Amino acid sequence: MMRDQSGTGFPEGFLWGAAAASYQIEGAAYEDGKGLSVWDMFCRKPDAVWNGQTGDVACDHYHRYREDVGIMRDIGLRAYRLSISWPRVLPEGTGAVNERGLAFYDRLVDALLEAGIAPHVTLFHWDFPLSLYHRGGWLNRDSADWFAEYTSVVVRKLGDRVKDWMTLNEPQVFVGAGHYEGRHAPGDRLRFAEILRICHHVLLAHGKSVQAIRAASPGRCNVYYAPVAQVKIPASSSPEDIEAARAATWSVAARTTWTNTWWMDPVFFGRYPEDGLRLFAGELPEIRGGDLEIIAQPVDFCGVNVYWGVPVRAGAGGAPEVVPHPVGHPITAFEWPVTPECLYWGPRFFYERYGRPIVITENGLSCRDWISLDGEVHDPQRIDFTARHLRELRRAMAEGAVVNGYFHWSILDNFEWAHGYKHRFGLVFVDYPTGRRVPKDSARWYRELIASNGAILGA
Ligand code: FCB
Repeated sequence: MMRDQSGTGFPEGFLWGAAAASYQIEGAAYEDGKGLSVWDMFCRKPDAVWNGQTGDVACDHYHRYREDVGIMRDIGLRAYRLSISWPRVLPEGTGAVNERGLAFYDRLVDALLEAGIAPHVTLFHWDFPLSLYHRGGWLNRDSADWFAEYTSVVVRKLGDRVKDWMTLNEPQVFVGAGHYEGRHAPGDRLRFAEILRICHHVLLAHGKSVQAIRAASPGRCNVYYAPVAQVKIPASSSPEDIEAARAATWSVAARTTWTNTWWMDPVFFGRYPEDGLRLFAGELPEIRGGDLEIIAQPVDFCGVNVYWGVPVRAGAGGAPEVVPHPVGHPITAFEWPVTPECLYWGPRFFYERYGRPIVITENGLSCRDWISLDGEVHDPQRIDFTARHLRELRRAMAEGAVVNGYFHWSILDNFEWAHGYKHRFGLVFVDYPTGRRVPKDSARWYRELIASNGAILGA
């Protein structure tokens, strides 16, 4: 276990990181033999994305990655969470490997290591190969094997240098928003029984990918997963409210993909949660013998993306009840509530239940940033938001939650899915017409934070 020798509340070796994802920053959508993804297709549907925008060019990171790694080095990042575009590596999703696409990640990993930054690689952050979608996509049980094949190709190439792997990012979102609610690629609105079938295949894909990573990695590596945490925050410090928030965090109470346990209990415990099995009875997919053993491959960390939480109190008979925020409660540009305690209760509850070191794989906010008359980008709200959240994370750690790292979302402003370029989440501003990068005030603050190992957060 890492120790806090500096007295800042964060151990030496704490992973101060930032994150991004392939489709959101790379661009080069039609270059060097890349195949198409469901996002390339979805962005062309009328009214699917804000102002008809696409990730065709995005931050042009594919061509500017050296400059971007230089910025990360200047900030002092210890780790960078990137994702790999599956169709850039396997244009048809399976079969022929596109060596030129793979070579990009090879160069990127080398550049990161030269800069002293540990690459934490996510294998799937939503850019699913269009060819495989035409073969049934995640509805097809073979999708788990397709993902394992792709995993092996990547790990064989990069596994001599990459020591930290994540399988999937936020299955709740790409399944829920993408296949049930139709807001994200591929834009489907399937029946709930089909959604549960997809969930099962996605979990199988995770398990087979973990097996493939371990088999192909030449040395010891860490493997984890990055679901999005649905955090419930006790409305008061009373034991009843705390228990209500805990119960709500771990319950499956609606026919939706937005739960923790449906996605995490199978991975950590090898079983689906009982309340979900009861609620979804009659719509459950075929679960074959051995499936749950595959899904429950041991993982090293408990990764979670945490953006906000929902206050909950004990209602009648102790039943969890959502408490609305007071009028005027702060919100981000995305209109997400600002709830710093989510980085206290989230890690505390997740560590308590799953007992693995926590990694905050994403946390951040969008602001309406622009370049000021003085040529700088002033984003005091990002600094304040991040400081508040990290103080809460530090409190969770002081009280016993083991937390190995924190990845700020995001290193760069980028393509925010169905919202296009409306939202700016970066520590670094991107002027899209020219591609120019301007580190924001928050990037300088983050540099000081990392250099002080968290000391500048104060008491
Ligand atoms: C998360 C996604 C990430 C980004 C942030 C704002 O849901 O994983 O790609 O869009 O939200």
